Amino acid sequence: MANTITILPGDGIGPEITAQAELILSRVDELYGLDLRLQRARLGGEAIDADGTPLPQATVEACQDSDAVLLGAVGGPKWDNIDKAKRPERGLLGIRKELKLFANLRPAQLFPELQHACLLRPDIVGQGLDIMVVRELTGGIYFGKPKGEEIRNGERVAYNTMIYTESEVRRIARVAFETAMKRGKRLCSVDKANVLEVSQLWRDVVTETAKEYPEVELSHMYVDNAAMQLVRDPSQFDVVVTSNLFGDILSDEAAVITGSIGMLPSASLGRHNPGLYEPIHGSAPDIAGEDKANPLAAILSVAMLLRYSLERADAAKTVERAVQAVLREGYRTLDIMEEGATQVGCAEMGRLALERLGKE
Ligand code: IPM
Ligand code: MG
Repeated sequence: MANTITILPGDGIGPEITAQAELILSRVDELYGLDLRLQRARLGGEAIDADGTPLPQATVEACQDSDAVLLGAVGGPKWDNIDKAKRPERGLLGIRKELKLFANLRPAQLFPELQHACLLRPDIVGQGLDIMVVRELTGGIYFGKPKGEEIRNGERVAYNTMIYTESEVRRIARVAFETAMKRGKRLCSVDKANVLEVSQLWRDVVTETAKEYPEVELSHMYVDNAAMQLVRDPSQFDVVVTSNLFGDILSDEAAVITGSIGMLPSASLGRHNPGLYEPIHGSAPDIAGEDKANPLAAILSVAMLLRYSLERADAAKTVERAVQAVLREGYRTLDIMEEGATQVGCAEMGRLALERLGKE
């Protein structure tokens, strides 16, 4: 049966990087006979321009009918001043919610070839940096109600609600424990239980869920401490599980200290397919259309798509090996450029990876 993949190129550098990712996907299809059917839909700013909404119904339906979704990036200065409810980011939040993608997997790892780019001291990173942040993605303060803005006592007030049900916490905790089982069997749950009721519930439910996974060593950490420990000694972390807002912040921190945020993919998963795969970096409007973007995060997102949605770890490894090969041979896009390396543009980087696909 055909596997349908919907590509959402989005805004800024999104179209350039997904174009390269699409070429890789098509070649993987030829190599592994995956019977892929690729289709495109609009999300974010490009959808606002064409359809008047950041998340057209046709896009929701195309994604729902797919086995997996590959996204570039959304947003840009062009849409920064429009009504908050119609901004490109709403499209992204909306598609996560529509597809019930409650689990966001964001790996932060150091590529051996790019060690020089790491922001931490060599003695700190020498201990290792390979973390999987599991972020809850469809609940918490991002979606909690009540929310709004109004006048009280003659002044403007605005509010959001950080709320979790125990079933929401349990299902993300299970994803995190399962992830830990496949990695180093250590899980750190991050919250603010010293202050917030919602975090106390989070901590209680994660602790209860731990009984199902006796092999996993569970620890808890307050979010302020976690932010500090990430730069002080990232080697203490294997899998980190946390709520939507804390995960938004900590996953950026974890990714940027590797020095290669342009290299990192992510997966957003629900109970069933389709999963959604996207680079961690944003739409980088400042370099859009200049063939300077790094397509490797999008290409590595294809690897995650193959691994999680199509359950083809073999094909995923082939893609990852092709990326390692181009790095090993010294090819770099601007964001990861170093002395002695060969600088290439987005399309050339994609072509080099494609050429090495299945030959490593
Ligand atoms: C991310 C982004 C989004 C988020 C924005 C663009 C809505 O920062 O994917 O981390 O906050 O979740
Ligand atoms: Mg973010």
